Amino acid sequence: MRVPIIAGNWKMNKTLGQAVEFVNQIKDQLPPTTERSVVLAAQPMFLADMVRAAKGSPLKIMAENCYYHDFGAYTGETSPLALDDMGVHHVLLGHSERRRIFKEDDDLINKKVLAALRNGLHPLVCCDETMGRQVTRHKVHWVVNRLLVDLRGVKPADMARVTIGYEPSWAIGSGHSADPFQAEDGCYLIRNTIADMFDDEIAKNIRILYGGSVSIDNIKVLMKKRDIDGCLIGGHSLDPDSFLELVNS
Ligand code: 13P
Repeated sequence: MRVPIIAGNWKMNKTLGQAVEFVNQIKDQLPPTTERSVVLAAQPMFLADMVRAAKGSPLKIMAENCYYHDFGAYTGETSPLALDDMGVHHVLLGHSERRRIFKEDDDLINKKVLAALRNGLHPLVCCDETMGRQVTRHKVHWVVNRLLVDLRGVKPADMARVTIGYEPSWAIGSGHSADPFQAEDGCYLIRNTIADMFDDEIAKNIRILYGGSVSIDNIKVLMKKRDIDGCLIGGHSLDPDSFLELVNS
Protein backbone atom coordinates (compact mmCIF):
# COMPACT_ATOMS: atom_id res chain seq x y z
CA MET A 1 0.00 0.00 0.00
CA ARG A 2 1.22 3.51 -0.82
CA VAL A 3 1.29 5.70 2.30
CA PRO A 4 0.01 9.17 1.32
CA ILE A 5 2.41 12.12 1.53
CA ILE A 6 1.45 15.64 2.47
CA ALA A 7 4.36 17.93 1.64
CA GLY A 8 4.52 21.64 2.36
CA ASN A 9 6.76 23.80 0.21
CA TRP A 10 7.40 27.12 1.93
CA LYS A 11 9.48 28.48 -0.98
CA MET A 12 11.34 31.70 0.02
CA ASN A 13 9.14 32.47 3.01
CA LYS A 14 9.55 32.67 6.81
CA THR A 15 12.42 33.53 9.09
CA LEU A 16 14.44 31.00 11.07
CA GLY A 17 12.49 31.73 14.27
CA GLN A 18 9.16 31.28 12.50
CA ALA A 19 10.31 28.05 10.87
CA VAL A 20 11.35 26.45 14.15
CA GLU A 21 8.24 27.69 15.94
CA PHE A 22 6.09 26.12 13.20
CA VAL A 23 7.81 22.73 13.64
CA ASN A 24 7.42 22.88 17.43
CA GLN A 25 3.76 23.75 17.02
CA ILE A 26 2.81 20.86 14.72
CA LYS A 27 5.21 18.03 15.56
CA ASP A 28 3.11 16.44 18.32
CA GLN A 29 -0.12 16.60 16.34
CA LEU A 30 0.89 14.52 13.32
CA PRO A 31 -0.48 11.10 12.33
CA PRO A 32 1.89 8.10 12.59
CA THR A 33 4.19 7.43 9.64
CA THR A 34 2.28 4.23 8.87
CA GLU A 35 -0.76 6.38 8.02
CA ARG A 36 0.80 9.43 6.40
CA SER A 37 4.20 10.92 5.57
CA VAL A 38 4.44 14.60 6.44
CA VAL A 39 7.23 16.65 4.92
CA LEU A 40 8.18 20.33 5.03
CA ALA A 41 10.49 22.07 2.55
CA ALA A 42 12.30 25.24 3.58
CA GLN A 43 15.24 27.49 2.74
CA PRO A 44 18.67 25.86 3.30
CA MET A 45 19.71 28.00 6.28
CA PHE A 46 16.68 26.80 8.32
CA LEU A 47 17.15 23.09 7.70
CA ALA A 48 19.56 22.11 10.50
CA ASP A 49 17.42 23.78 13.18
CA MET A 50 14.24 22.32 11.72
CA VAL A 51 15.74 18.81 11.71
CA ARG A 52 16.73 19.29 15.35
CA ALA A 53 13.26 20.54 16.29
CA ALA A 54 11.55 17.67 14.43
CA LYS A 55 13.76 14.95 15.96
CA GLY A 56 11.73 12.05 17.37
CA SER A 57 8.55 13.17 15.57
CA PRO A 58 7.10 11.82 12.28
CA LEU A 59 7.93 15.08 10.48
CA LYS A 60 10.59 14.89 7.76
CA ILE A 61 12.47 17.93 6.51
CA MET A 62 13.08 18.63 2.82
CA ALA A 63 15.53 20.93 1.02
CA GLU A 64 14.08 22.94 -1.86
CA ASN A 65 17.05 22.28 -4.13
CA CYS A 66 20.62 20.94 -4.20
CA TYR A 67 23.57 20.86 -6.57
CA TYR A 68 24.95 17.78 -8.32
CA HIS A 69 28.49 17.89 -6.92
CA ASP A 70 29.09 16.83 -3.33
CA PHE A 71 31.60 19.62 -2.62
CA GLY A 72 33.89 22.07 -4.40
CA ALA A 73 34.12 25.59 -5.79
CA TYR A 74 30.41 26.20 -6.47
CA THR A 75 29.66 29.43 -4.63
CA GLY A 76 26.11 29.70 -3.40
CA GLU A 77 25.13 26.10 -4.10
CA THR A 78 23.88 23.48 -1.62
CA SER A 79 25.70 20.16 -1.31
CA PRO A 80 23.61 16.96 -1.29
CA LEU A 81 26.32 15.36 0.87
CA ALA A 82 25.95 18.12 3.47
CA LEU A 83 22.14 17.85 3.39
CA ASP A 84 22.23 14.14 4.11
CA ASP A 85 24.84 14.63 6.84
CA MET A 86 22.58 17.23 8.45
CA GLY A 87 19.67 14.78 8.69
CA VAL A 88 17.64 16.29 5.86
CA HIS A 89 15.53 13.49 4.40
CA HIS A 90 14.08 14.76 1.10
CA VAL A 91 15.10 17.19 -1.61
CA LEU A 92 12.72 18.88 -4.02
CA LEU A 93 14.15 18.90 -7.54
CA GLY A 94 12.90 20.40 -10.79
CA HIS A 95 10.22 22.59 -9.24
CA SER A 96 8.45 24.67 -11.85
CA GLU A 97 9.90 27.88 -10.33
CA ARG A 98 13.46 26.49 -10.61
CA ARG A 99 12.79 25.60 -14.24
CA ARG A 100 11.08 28.88 -15.19
CA ILE A 101 12.94 31.52 -13.16
CA PHE A 102 16.36 29.87 -12.84
CA LYS A 103 16.30 28.17 -16.28
CA GLU A 104 17.03 24.67 -14.94
CA ASP A 105 16.60 22.10 -17.68
CA ASP A 106 15.98 18.37 -17.59
CA ASP A 107 19.65 17.46 -18.06
CA LEU A 108 20.61 19.50 -15.00
CA ILE A 109 17.74 18.08 -12.98
CA ASN A 110 18.79 14.56 -13.97
CA LYS A 111 22.31 15.19 -12.60
CA LYS A 112 20.80 16.49 -9.37
CA VAL A 113 18.49 13.46 -9.03
CA LEU A 114 21.46 11.09 -9.41
CA ALA A 115 23.51 13.11 -6.90
CA ALA A 116 20.66 13.14 -4.38
CA LEU A 117 20.24 9.36 -4.65
CA ARG A 118 24.01 8.77 -4.44
CA ASN A 119 23.98 10.66 -1.14
CA GLY A 120 21.07 8.76 0.40
CA LEU A 121 18.47 11.51 -0.03
CA HIS A 122 14.87 10.99 -1.19
CA PRO A 123 14.29 13.22 -4.25
CA LEU A 124 10.83 14.59 -4.94
CA VAL A 125 11.08 15.23 -8.67
CA CYS A 126 8.61 17.77 -10.00
CA CYS A 127 7.14 17.53 -13.43
CA ASP A 128 5.47 20.74 -14.45
CA GLU A 129 3.13 21.22 -17.34
CA THR A 130 2.48 24.46 -19.17
CA MET A 131 -0.91 24.99 -20.75
CA GLY A 132 -0.59 24.55 -24.49
CA ARG A 133 2.71 22.70 -24.24
CA GLN A 134 1.26 19.33 -23.25
CA VAL A 135 2.23 17.90 -26.61
CA THR A 136 5.64 18.61 -28.07
CA ARG A 137 6.27 18.86 -31.78
CA HIS A 138 7.25 15.19 -31.72
CA LYS A 139 3.80 14.36 -30.39
CA VAL A 140 5.21 12.91 -27.22
CA HIS A 141 3.57 14.18 -24.11
CA TRP A 142 5.51 16.96 -22.36
CA VAL A 143 5.44 15.13 -19.03
CA VAL A 144 6.72 11.90 -20.59
CA ASN A 145 9.63 13.77 -22.16
CA ARG A 146 10.49 15.34 -18.81
CA LEU A 147 10.52 12.00 -16.98
CA LEU A 148 12.59 10.24 -19.63
CA VAL A 149 15.39 12.74 -19.06
CA ASP A 150 14.94 13.56 -15.34
CA LEU A 151 15.10 9.87 -14.35
CA ARG A 152 17.71 8.78 -16.90
CA GLY A 153 20.20 6.36 -15.37
CA VAL A 154 18.35 5.92 -12.07
CA LYS A 155 18.83 2.37 -10.80
CA PRO A 156 15.56 0.45 -10.36
CA ALA A 157 16.51 -0.27 -6.72
CA ASP A 158 16.80 3.48 -6.05
CA MET A 159 13.29 4.19 -7.33
CA ALA A 160 11.95 3.23 -3.89
CA ARG A 161 13.37 6.58 -2.69
CA VAL A 162 11.92 8.64 -5.53
CA THR A 163 8.60 10.51 -5.40
CA ILE A 164 7.15 12.39 -8.35
CA GLY A 165 5.23 15.65 -8.15
CA TYR A 166 2.81 16.59 -10.91
CA GLU A 167 2.34 20.36 -10.91
CA PRO A 168 0.63 22.15 -13.79
CA SER A 169 2.40 25.55 -13.89
CA TRP A 170 -0.86 27.45 -14.37
CA ALA A 171 -2.29 25.96 -11.17
CA ILE A 172 0.66 27.02 -8.97
CA GLY A 173 -0.20 29.98 -6.79
CA SER A 174 -3.18 30.89 -8.99
CA GLY A 175 -5.97 29.76 -6.70
CA HIS A 176 -7.18 27.56 -9.58
CA SER A 177 -6.34 23.92 -8.98
CA ALA A 178 -6.48 21.45 -11.85
CA ASP A 179 -9.82 19.71 -11.71
CA PRO A 180 -9.50 16.29 -10.06
CA PHE A 181 -9.93 14.41 -13.36
CA GLN A 182 -7.20 16.48 -15.02
CA ALA A 183 -4.92 15.96 -12.00
CA GLU A 184 -5.62 12.22 -12.06
CA ASP A 185 -4.86 12.12 -15.81
CA GLY A 186 -1.44 13.67 -15.22
CA CYS A 187 -0.60 11.31 -12.35
CA TYR A 188 -1.87 8.29 -14.30
CA LEU A 189 0.32 9.24 -17.26
CA ILE A 190 3.31 9.54 -14.92
CA ARG A 191 2.63 6.09 -13.41
CA ASN A 192 2.37 4.53 -16.88
CA THR A 193 5.59 6.21 -17.98
CA ILE A 194 7.37 4.84 -14.89
CA ALA A 195 6.04 1.37 -15.77
CA ASP A 196 7.48 1.73 -19.29
CA MET A 197 10.81 3.05 -18.03
CA PHE A 198 11.17 0.57 -15.16
CA ASP A 199 8.52 -2.07 -14.42
CA ASP A 200 4.96 -2.52 -13.15
CA GLU A 201 6.01 -3.19 -9.57
CA ILE A 202 8.00 0.06 -9.35
CA ALA A 203 5.10 1.95 -10.97
CA LYS A 204 2.65 0.41 -8.50
CA ASN A 205 4.75 1.43 -5.49
CA ILE A 206 5.93 4.91 -6.47
CA ARG A 207 4.13 7.81 -4.85
CA ILE A 208 2.88 10.57 -7.12
CA LEU A 209 1.76 13.90 -5.69
CA TYR A 210 -0.43 16.57 -7.18
CA GLY A 211 0.53 20.22 -6.57
CA GLY A 212 -1.05 23.54 -7.55
CA SER A 213 -3.52 25.56 -5.42
CA VAL A 214 -4.29 22.69 -3.06
CA SER A 215 -6.49 23.84 -0.19
CA ILE A 216 -8.92 22.45 2.33
CA ASP A 217 -11.66 22.91 -0.30
CA ASN A 218 -10.19 20.49 -2.84
CA ILE A 219 -7.76 18.14 -1.04
CA LYS A 220 -10.31 15.44 -0.23
CA VAL A 221 -11.53 15.06 -3.83
CA LEU A 222 -7.98 15.09 -5.17
CA MET A 223 -6.81 12.47 -2.67
CA LYS A 224 -9.68 10.15 -3.63
CA LYS A 225 -8.22 9.72 -7.11
CA ARG A 226 -6.53 6.39 -7.72
CA ASP A 227 -3.15 7.67 -8.90
CA ILE A 228 -2.83 10.67 -6.59
CA ASP A 229 -0.88 9.64 -3.49
CA GLY A 230 -0.63 13.01 -1.83
CA CYS A 231 -0.27 16.72 -2.33
CA LEU A 232 2.49 19.27 -2.60
CA ILE A 233 1.22 22.44 -1.00
CA GLY A 234 2.60 25.97 -1.27
CA GLY A 235 0.49 28.86 0.05
CA HIS A 236 -1.70 26.81 2.35
CA SER A 237 1.30 25.18 4.07
CA LEU A 238 2.48 28.49 5.53
CA ASP A 239 0.06 28.61 8.43
CA PRO A 240 0.43 25.79 10.99
CA ASP A 241 -3.32 25.39 11.59
CA SER A 242 -4.12 25.30 7.89
CA PHE A 243 -1.25 22.83 7.25
CA LEU A 244 -2.41 20.54 10.08
CA GLU A 245 -5.95 20.65 8.74
CA LEU A 246 -4.67 19.55 5.33
CA VAL A 247 -2.50 16.81 6.86
CA ASN A 248 -5.41 15.42 8.88
CA SER A 249 -8.12 15.89 6.26
P1 13P B 1 0.50 26.66 -4.28
O1 13P B 1 -0.09 25.58 -3.38
O2 13P B 1 0.70 27.95 -3.59
O3 13P B 1 -0.27 26.74 -5.56
O4 13P B 1 1.98 26.17 -4.68
C1 13P B 1 2.15 24.90 -5.23
C2 13P B 1 3.59 24.59 -5.29
O5 13P B 1 4.34 25.18 -6.04
C3 13P B 1 4.09 23.55 -4.38
O6 13P B 1 5.36 23.15 -4.73
